[in-house]
Amino acid sequence: MYVCLCHGITDKMIKQTVLEDGVGNMRELKSKLGVGSQCGKCVQLAQTIIDTTIFDE
Ligand code: FES
Repeated sequence: MYVCLCHGITDKMIKQTVLEDGVGNMRELKSKLGVGSQCGKCVQLAQTIIDTTIFDE
């Protein structure tokens, strides 16, 4: 599922970035994938995905 339409980023890509690159917050995710750097509509969902990915680990 697409989370960030502006940059074409899916939930899977975010999960992978958290697990493989050790990204742990929106600031890091933004600099890695660009998520949230345009319209900002995706920020809340992206944050939830970061949190649940970390929590599930
Ligand atoms: Fe992510 Fe617009 S949907 S910045």
